[in-house]
Amino acid sequence: MTVSLSFPRVGDKQNSPQFEDYLGQLLNERDRIGLTEAIRQIDALMITVEPSHAVAYLAELCVMTPYHYLVTLETETHYTHILRIDMSAPDILVREVKDPNVRGIFRSLNEVYPIGAVKPNSRYMGEVLRVTDPHAVVDMQKARDIRFFNQEQIRKLELPGNMAVVKPSPYTHNIVAYWERPETDIRVYALGWSSIRDDMQAAYEAAKATQKRLGIDTLLLPIDHLATRIYSQNREAAILEYLTLTSYYFWGAYDIEDQNSSTNVTKSVHYANELECPAKVFTAANHPYFMNHLLTESPTEAFVRNFGPRLHHVAVAVKDGETAELANIDFVVNSLRDCGQKFLLDVIGSKEAGLKQIFSSASEYSSLIIEYVQRFGGFQGFFTKDNVAELTHAAGVEESLRELQAEAQA
Ligand SMILES: [Fe+2]
Repeated sequence: MTVSLSFPRVGDKQNSPQFEDYLGQLLNERDRIGLTEAIRQIDALMITVEPSHAVAYLAELCVMTPYHYLVTLETETHYTHILRIDMSAPDILVREVKDPNVRGIFRSLNEVYPIGAVKPNSRYMGEVLRVTDPHAVVDMQKARDIRFFNQEQIRKLELPGNMAVVKPSPYTHNIVAYWERPETDIRVYALGWSSIRDDMQAAYEAAKATQKRLGIDTLLLPIDHLATRIYSQNREAAILEYLTLTSYYFWGAYDIEDQNSSTNVTKSVHYANELECPAKVFTAANHPYFMNHLLTESPTEAFVRNFGPRLHHVAVAVKDGETAELANIDFVVNSLRDCGQKFLLDVIGSKEAGLKQIFSSASEYSSLIIEYVQRFGGFQGFFTKDNVAELTHAAGVEESLRELQAEAQA
């Protein structure tokens, strides 16, 4: 049996005594009833974009990541485009509403936030988790007060019929879904009519030709981690809720004091390699916004107040090594800059520190930032505090610029 509490703890962020108590109780119980064993890896990520934005977003993802366009599933009010690397990394489902007037719960989650409301259909929705016994998992989760959409709601939302979907988290506004898939089977989504759309295929082929021309196609690896930003007061609850919904464990948390922020990392108990099952990171301010004038600024809380709690970035791993006498990450970033991609800062970190990282500008289509991360010589640490402080600062600068822009447009 997997022991979810057996992993070493890192980090310097202090948790409340209740957090430590709940963590022990929740994980022991999860292991005991077989939930930890039944819930496996992240099989897919779901992202929604504005009508007609999917083709441009797919092109962007196919240049900036190793994803390939597979197929489009059409339903009455949505297109769902499937992107895949291979069966050892999660798929990305890019969902696009056909009519801008269609309303739904995911749109509502954006509409109460000043910048989120500007692109009401654009947000990261959540993860699909592979499970070995969906009925047992749903029953165990219902007994733990987890709420699910019913079959009628799933049909109306036009989500795949072969999934059990949890209602959005009050802390992160993300969902998780469970589905069964023997590990030897390919992923098949029970949704609508399937076709390879000519416009998507053409955009995909052009993007891959660009990636090859730049010489970055062999340097990009799957997703390393997904980072969600949440309100300061929800930090501990959001972490514990995610551990309740998944078979992840609490890896540890770092205090990024000068950015008034903490970075909290959870990882799969089953997959030590993040590239097979990405780490989930939660970032929260240390103090709430109304203390800023007495203490210090708060880029993390400002993001949450403007966009709502949501996924902030997707980190893509870069292969360790050098190309044209540059670290691969520098080569990738230079190449993408040359063809117009903007970044929020220069590449930070060093080979000696074990890790180099950078944030792209937020996507015009999904509002998500792509982080690139290169680990040197099998660096075991997940991140360095200095890098995270610089990244948090850079994202804050981006954030305020966007805020001003939105105000000017109001
Ligand atoms: Fe990150």
